[in-house]
Amino acid sequence: MIGKQPLIIGNWKMTLSLTESVRLARTLLEAIEPPRQTEIVIAPSFEALVSVGEIIRDSALKLAAQDVAPFGPGAHTGFVAAAHLAPLGVAYAILGHSERRLEAYETDGMIADKVAACVAAHIIPVLCIGETRAERRSGRTRTVLRRQLQKGLEKIPKNAPLVIAYEPVWAIGAKKPATPKLITEAHENIRALLDRSARVVYGGSVDAASATFFAAEPLIDGLLVGRASLDESQFRGIIQAYESR
Ligand code: PGA
Repeated sequence: MIGKQPLIIGNWKMTLSLTESVRLARTLLEAIEPPRQTEIVIAPSFEALVSVGEIIRDSALKLAAQDVAPFGPGAHTGFVAAAHLAPLGVAYAILGHSERRLEAYETDGMIADKVAACVAAHIIPVLCIGETRAERRSGRTRTVLRRQLQKGLEKIPKNAPLVIAYEPVWAIGAKKPATPKLITEAHENIRALLDRSARVVYGGSVDAASATFFAAEPLIDGLLVGRASLDESQFRGIIQAYESR
């Protein structure tokens, strides 16, 4: 094994109904052999967390939420508190995903509060960072990554367990991932910018074929997978790439 324990997170986004989520969780449970060295996490949408959590309880699969509220329990209509998710078996939460930054107008400040809420609830934050195409073209990638990291982490202690997901916005939902050179460079930048220990994973159009490259790259501690995590054989192939690392 290279370095830290590899982590593969399947982000189901808002693609599946409750019935479909339950079906996929059951299929994965049957199809995925207990991994020897890879941590595997699935992130269903909120309405499926309880049912999927029950299906995968006591298995090698772990549960993640796709978001949490930026504050603790109280009078906040429509939010979901990290403190209420932890007892459901939620071990991780994806925070600051570019879709939420764009579609839910999330700011770095709100994301910092969500990161802090997770740490307080003993949920490991998966802080998503990444530049847009325009930011990359204008040479601002490093500045953007620095800002997202510094602001996103400013409210938690340095020793809090943490995952950073580098997801260049233009590579999400695209035809193929960013190039290996670009991803490696960004991971080097992130490591240099980080003032603490964290696993740093890559996300953006990963599939079973491209996973072989990521698994061979010691800087990349794992993957945040969107579409390919909805396909049992693709997801299995991605895990396999890390298991044979
Ligand atoms: P994708 O999504 O794998 O479908 O590009 C990745 C993500 O948004 O986390």
